[in-house]
Amino acid sequence: MSEHPVLIAPSLLAADITRLGDEIRQAEAGGADWLHVDIMDGHFVPNLTFGPAVVAACRQVTRLPLDVHLMVTHPEQMLGDFAQAGASRLTVHVETCPHLHRTLQQIRELGCAVGVTLNPGTSAVLLYPVLHLVDQVLVMSVNPGFGGQSFLPEVLTKTRELRQALDQANPAGLIEMDGGITAKTAPLARQAGVDVFVAGTSVFRHPAGPAGGIQALRAALNS
Ligand code: DX5
Ligand code: ZN
Repeated sequence: MSEHPVLIAPSLLAADITRLGDEIRQAEAGGADWLHVDIMDGHFVPNLTFGPAVVAACRQVTRLPLDVHLMVTHPEQMLGDFAQAGASRLTVHVETCPHLHRTLQQIRELGCAVGVTLNPGTSAVLLYPVLHLVDQVLVMSVNPGFGGQSFLPEVLTKTRELRQALDQANPAGLIEMDGGITAKTAPLARQAGVDVFVAGTSVFRHPAGPAGGIQALRAALNS
């Protein structure tokens, strides 16, 4: 379990892009804590999404922190552009960073909160040497690239281990989980020590709209 409060970060990947501003306003009014923005480059993951221009557009319509998840090769070359566009938090994949320690410092120097993430098939041990440098560790609970995939429960074991390691190295550090988060899976993640719940489909495709999706997640996490 975690000592930190629950935070909900709706993922714009599942929003109706033709009405992006409206979707963001509804998520904010519905109680979202952060907005999660998925950046995919068609190389590191087999899909293409948004660039800094879309982050800048989001920045114009909300006060919520923009939690930018960089699923790109050579993220160090783009950090400045996303920071300038208004990203509040920047998360890079350990699989894309041969100089992870340096890249995390680069994010700190840009004035953004520092995040690192790992794929379901990557060991958490790789992150232990940098836990003191981060504000958040994002545990992927699907293979990144697409929304709407099923939660992979096997990531819960390393999440529990990470929770212990992070509490020791950096008690203020948050654990975030991304992929297949629903009212059913969120409580399992919480028990394993997750603080921040990224949810695309279960928020933006909820029959009662984003506010209904956020409410359903909070209800499941409180019960
Ligand atoms: C997947 C992305 C996720 C995605 C989650 O590669 O990183 O943020 O939007 O979508 P759902 O909640 O539908 O699994
Ligand atoms: Zn994401």
